[in-house]
Amino acid sequence: MAEDAARGGRRRPVTRDADPSGRVNSEVAGGEPGRLRRIRAGYDAWARVYDWFARATVSVGGVRAACVRALELSPGDTVVEFGCGPGVNLPALRDVVGPTGRVVGVDVSPRMLDRAAGLVERRGWENVSLVEADAERPPVAAADGVLATFVTSLFPDPYAVVRRWCELSDAVVVAAFVPEGNRAANAALRAFVALNGRLFDAGGDDPLGRLAGRTDAARRALDDHTVGRERRRHLFGTIAIEAGRNR
Ligand SMILES: C[S@@+](CC[C@H](N)C(=O)[O-])C[C@H]1O[C@@H](n2cnc3c(N)ncnc32)[C@H](O)[C@@H]1O
Repeated sequence: MAEDAARGGRRRPVTRDADPSGRVNSEVAGGEPGRLRRIRAGYDAWARVYDWFARATVSVGGVRAACVRALELSPGDTVVEFGCGPGVNLPALRDVVGPTGRVVGVDVSPRMLDRAAGLVERRGWENVSLVEADAERPPVAAADGVLATFVTSLFPDPYAVVRRWCELSDAVVVAAFVPEGNRAANAALRAFVALNGRLFDAGGDDPLGRLAGRTDAARRALDDHTVGRERRRHLFGTIAIEAGRNR
């Protein structure tokens, strides 16, 4: 159900997460933990810049195209993107499922979702919906594919979240940074994590170790809960694409 945007009065195809009784997900509506509030505030503040940056780099390393291919979707399928941000992956996802399929983008940041909603409106897609919700508590019961790019490192327990995604979907594809590339790439990653330490909850003296642990946890969840596994490295080994399938 579309609702009026709180800001600017623009009508946007974004729904808030609700349980079957119609109550809005309390983690998103209020009473949310400080961590989620920080993530939302951080990404709200950077939504415009992030959108620009992500669109400018959409083809770099072929990462995003490889993720969508790894889902092995067909026309008519339903795909959910958790932490969809401004919607940079939505065009490729919409392309593969076609007009008869369904694409659902989930994010906690209303500003990011505003950006994604603008894209949906400009393209005139009627089968792409956006939900403001916590990806750690999926607002979707079943899907043919689940995608999450550069999101799982933000979860305190990526293993538990990715396991949940494996239960609801036939295919799960996760892209994440890995600090196992060359020294220059590691230095860049270290700077990135230091700058975004509050979002990653990656303070302390080993932010890269924290990042590596979270990437590894997501990988292990796919190892343990899917039967068909595929992994690839992109961009000098700094980005891992992990795909798991149960079909
Ligand atoms: C680094 S951005 C990645 C955006 C997009 N996936 C991409 O590849 O460009 C991380 C996104 O995940 C969202 N996010 C972080 N934690 C989340 C959660 N628990 N539930 C839903 N979205 C979340 C943020 O709001 C942000 O839009």
